[in-house]
Amino acid sequence: MPPERVTFRRAWPADAETIARTVGLGMETWHAFAPAGWTPRAHRQGVGFAREALSATSAWAVLAFVDGEPAGHFAMTAGDWDEPLAAELKSLFVRPRWFGTGLADRLHEAFVEAARERGYPWAWLSTPAGNARARRFYERREWRADTLVETHRGMPWVSYGRSLLPPAAASRQNPAVDARVGSRP
Ligand SMILES: CC(C)(COP(=O)(O)OP(=O)(O)OC[C@H]1O[C@@H](n2cnc3c(N)ncnc32)[C@H](O)[C@@H]1OP(=O)(O)O)[C@@H](O)C(=O)NCCC(=O)NCCS
Repeated sequence: MPPERVTFRRAWPADAETIARTVGLGMETWHAFAPAGWTPRAHRQGVGFAREALSATSAWAVLAFVDGEPAGHFAMTAGDWDEPLAAELKSLFVRPRWFGTGLADRLHEAFVEAARERGYPWAWLSTPAGNARARRFYERREWRADTLVETHRGMPWVSYGRSLLPPAAASRQNPAVDARVGSRP
């Protein structure tokens, strides 16, 4: 068997359908920890949500394909709260078939690189509080949980933040950025 060929390209609003399909497949796995009665977002709603996110001026998203088949993506925008210099990792999903293959790590690395290139010193993301797999994945990659827990449609969500500065610069030049973890209003 020839090795699988992994390719990446920028995602556009026209890719909303593919992204919503990947998100839908990922959300199906959340039944393992979701509160009783929780259901994944409807596909049509997911397409609208993805199209809107990808249309933001600050949006940057990348699709991954394995042998030409959509396999995952990340999507980021500028954070829209009180920290204009924070990137928000809005979505990092790989299709369940590619869990544990290292594809998510490559997408995560691509996110960090893209956010650094755009000059963001800090990043935020949210994930369901019960999403132990994702939380482990992020915590292994320098993300630290905030104290804030918010409930959406019955699901508790936790926020994570991390510095995007190189480690030496983060401790030498900008200790206040690191100190923000745990203090997001
Ligand atoms: C979150 C996601 C991107 C991570 O990618 P992945 O390929 O599954 O991640 P990896 O397998 O490399 O890493 C997962 C880690 O969690 C561990 N893990 C797996 N299942 C676990 C569980 N039930 N509880 C705790 N840890 C678990 C793995 O052992 C691994 O840890 P390790 O690196 O120390 O061995 C992927 O699972 C995904 O797309 N999930 C659905 C969408 C999602 O939840 N996205 C999160 C943003 S909301």
